[in-house]
Amino acid sequence: MVWRATVLTLFPEMFPGPLGISLAGRALASGLWALEARDIRDSATDKHRSVDDTPAGGGPGMVLRADVLAAAIDATGLPQDRPRLVMSPRGRPLTQARVAELAAGPGPLIVCGRFEGIDQRVIDARGLEEVSIGDYVLSGGEIAAMALIDACVRLLPGVMGKLSSGTDESFSDGLLEYPQYTRPQTFEDRQIPEILLSGDHAKVAAWRLAEAEALTETRRPDLWAARPKAPEKGKNRKRPKNTTDG
Ligand code: ADE
Repeated sequence: MVWRATVLTLFPEMFPGPLGISLAGRALASGLWALEARDIRDSATDKHRSVDDTPAGGGPGMVLRADVLAAAIDATGLPQDRPRLVMSPRGRPLTQARVAELAAGPGPLIVCGRFEGIDQRVIDARGLEEVSIGDYVLSGGEIAAMALIDACVRLLPGVMGKLSSGTDESFSDGLLEYPQYTRPQTFEDRQIPEILLSGDHAKVAAWRLAEAEALTETRRPDLWAARPKAPEKGKNRKRPKNTTDG
């Protein structure tokens, strides 16, 4: 079975959107993964097809109804083994490690919130895992869901093709990526660092590691503090793998 993202949203027309273009889009078109965007409103029961109501206890905005969303989740008929996520700024921050887990599974069901929130009872009753893509507030979960799906899709077998399967990039070893350069050799009086043109692969690798470490230490002290420690000399300890998030 192909990896599949099932998205529940009030705006299914937003999909595939950017996921239909470039790397993810080519992989989608060639059947390496599948995307299904379902309209939560199709599970509304009253004649106005209403999906939201005012918050219990008062306050601004509208809350997505538990009965309507639960019906939308149940109507997907998805088995329990599919991770059930809901995009929310109050969720656990998404990490590359969680992305890798999701990419290795059958593919998630993703609920996109709108309004002021979602009735807590459906989050509890359907075991939804709240996921945030960062400490800022979007107007809905759709763009967050697209970010999560994109991050997963590029890890699926066959999607990256000849490109490195993410081994050298930011977070794969707990470090930010070293700077890259390409032709022309001189750009506005700025040169490519000479060591990169030396042809000495060991020196290039050492330079890149030093750059990545310096960048991580200054820009992301949280990642730097949590990085995998180099093995002690003579102890022959292996470097822990997949410790990719802070
Ligand atoms: N919905 C609104 N803001 C969000 C965020 N930062 N992450 C995930 N979902 C969201």
